[in-house]
Amino acid sequence: MESTQNFFCPRNNIFGFGSLKEISLHIANLGLKKGLVVTDSFWATSPHTKRLSDFMKQAGASAIVWGHAQPNPTDKNVSDGIEVYRKEGCDFVLSLGGGSAHDCAKAIGIMVNNPGTIHAYEGVDKVKKPLPPLLAINTTAGTAAEMTRFCIITDTGRKVKMAIVDPNVTPLVSINDPELMLSMPKGLTAASGMDALTHAVEAYVSTSANPLTDTQAKAAIDIIFKHLAEATHNPNNREAREKMAYAQYMAGMAFNNAGLGYVHAMAHQLGGYYDLPHGVCNAILLPVVQKFNLKKAAPRLAEIARFLSLGKDTDSPELLAEMLIKKIEELSGKVEIPKGLKSFKIDPKDFKIMAENAMKDPCGFTNPVQPTLAEVIKMFEVANI
Ligand SMILES: [Fe+2]
Repeated sequence: MESTQNFFCPRNNIFGFGSLKEISLHIANLGLKKGLVVTDSFWATSPHTKRLSDFMKQAGASAIVWGHAQPNPTDKNVSDGIEVYRKEGCDFVLSLGGGSAHDCAKAIGIMVNNPGTIHAYEGVDKVKKPLPPLLAINTTAGTAAEMTRFCIITDTGRKVKMAIVDPNVTPLVSINDPELMLSMPKGLTAASGMDALTHAVEAYVSTSANPLTDTQAKAAIDIIFKHLAEATHNPNNREAREKMAYAQYMAGMAFNNAGLGYVHAMAHQLGGYYDLPHGVCNAILLPVVQKFNLKKAAPRLAEIARFLSLGKDTDSPELLAEMLIKKIEELSGKVEIPKGLKSFKIDPKDFKIMAENAMKDPCGFTNPVQPTLAEVIKMFEVANI
């Protein structure tokens, strides 16, 4: 590994039950006055949002609650949000929710200080001017979007999820208060937990992995295997919720710096074309893509397997890697994620265009094997059971 490695992370990161109240201190320290709270329709009316507004008030700031971030947030959401931000004369952005709220808030933040439309910032390091202060309060475990330099917005014209990857979109403050995660429904707990597992596995086998990201990825994978099923089936288990909050953050630290792979590159197309839930697509594609990656990544996948005490010392890397993939499939089953894409009724005719777009998605650049177009189409077909 003879290359320079950057490590990106928010400046302040707050964890633990009841930690939402810490927001007051940060708003007061930053001298902020009026915040656009970017959230969805569910959270807009939640008692936690009222608590957040009260904490903001204590710090001398007012809250403009804007509850229109859709799942798979769109370019239209961003243009609507920036209009409200400007009209209200806000001076900072808060995101409250999971990945959709954070990504939408990041994109609105980009548009505060940068010209044109959000489409101009698709790609890596295209955002020239920093965002206004962005404070991210996370309610899922998770996309880790509350702490990453990734922002995913659907281009409704092209039906493509645009990946905006830029240190400028990293929130200033992240809050992971598991109290806010207790209300996560079963399906969302399962899907967002499998998303976090995908982040950790893709980061570990990434061509940009380094010792820092390896440590975080392995720890995250271990915790997710131990606690995701419990958090899914016993939503009020506070220990499982807290462990998952840390695990998804660690998986975020790993992929924010090591990058991702073809699971995400392909899942983004299913999200862009069919508006399918991100975590479910990842959970279905993770075993398929890692099987494809075996020719190069078996030794790395075997390292994870050994870390999890799978197999015997004498087992080959290929065998260990397969044991890990099987364990992933088992966890997916335990949290009741469908085995394949069949139930989503995808038109196989769309695989070609989705595969072409996946090959342009920057998330795929760090996959251990660069597939051909035919191989990406084949992976979509394999997942379509
Ligand atoms: Fe993800």
